[in-house]
Amino acid sequence: RALLRRLWKGDASSRMLHPRLQKAMGAYLRANKHGVRFRGRRAAGRSRAELLCALRGRVRVRTLDGTEPPFSALGWRTLVPAVPLGQLLPRGLRSCAVVTSAGAILNSSLGEEIDSHDAVLRFNSAPTHGYEKDVGNKTTIRIINSQILTNPNHHFIDSSLYKDVILVAWDPAPYSANLNLWYKKPDYNLFTPYVQHRQRNPNQPFYILHPKFIWQLWDIIQENTREKIQPNPPSSGFIGVLLMMSLCSEVHVYEYVPSERQTELCHYHELYYDAACTLGAYHPLLYEKLLVQRLNTGAQGDLHRKGKVVLPGLRAVRC
Ligand code: C5P
Repeated sequence: RALLRRLWKGDASSRMLHPRLQKAMGAYLRANKHGVRFRGRRAAGRSRAELLCALRGRVRVRTLDGTEPPFSALGWRTLVPAVPLGQLLPRGLRSCAVVTSAGAILNSSLGEEIDSHDAVLRFNSAPTHGYEKDVGNKTTIRIINSQILTNPNHHFIDSSLYKDVILVAWDPAPYSANLNLWYKKPDYNLFTPYVQHRQRNPNQPFYILHPKFIWQLWDIIQENTREKIQPNPPSSGFIGVLLMMSLCSEVHVYEYVPSERQTELCHYHELYYDAACTLGAYHPLLYEKLLVQRLNTGAQGDLHRKGKVVLPGLRAVRC
């Protein structure tokens, strides 16, 4: 509870985490499995306006377009969707919702509010069926990690979760964003199922995020944090928030910065308890959330009771 209140105020630190999570963070820092070398400059004291301005200047959503090796030689130019992700939705998307999969969204009755947005972003295998009252049922975009494409338990090929939506997949690449290295040794091989899915469903918009975009987001989190953050990619949640800030005039994020309903329940759709889901072990979640909290223009009451953060779209930001 103390940590939650500090998170709402925006001054939480990893020292407040359970020792088990602190230990896991330390192990990830030492392992540095993606070869991260931060070369940016820390600017941890930025105001909200300065932060937004920095984001507007830096965040460029990028997906694989098949023009770079090794993808160029593999015919990906014609494999990827002809229309880029940034041009797919009408430019005038006014208000958008990002719905995280946190257990705390259970019993929120946020479904109707979520569905009232022009576009709704969801993650991985998070269902709506049976949970409509709390999470709504509209899905415009689904961000999926490479495990969804490769783990047979997720039934990527035939589950309705992945149909009639825009799919955006990602996989942790080396920090160098060397595409040849990544292609040879992805975390989970998403390339083969991607090609197959594109060939079978050429009309479904389906993109793979460029590793440069993912690590650019990591750099921004580290730049704006006093502590050393885990040298691992940001969570799908953070990636989704920045994607929607690039596409919409206003973004409402639900149960990312946790509400007073927060428990250790990891996801609303399964009985699995682990505080790392909300506060991070592998992903620098605590720091992502502190950054998003600093950008919040919504009411504190909405944060506490709904777990809602309201963010401006980056296009509207004046520097
Ligand atoms: O677990 P999964 O990655 O599918 O969840 C989607 C996103 O929702 C996460 O990347 C994270 O940003 C957010 N999340 C959270 N707290 C939880 C579970 C998920 O903030 N307890």
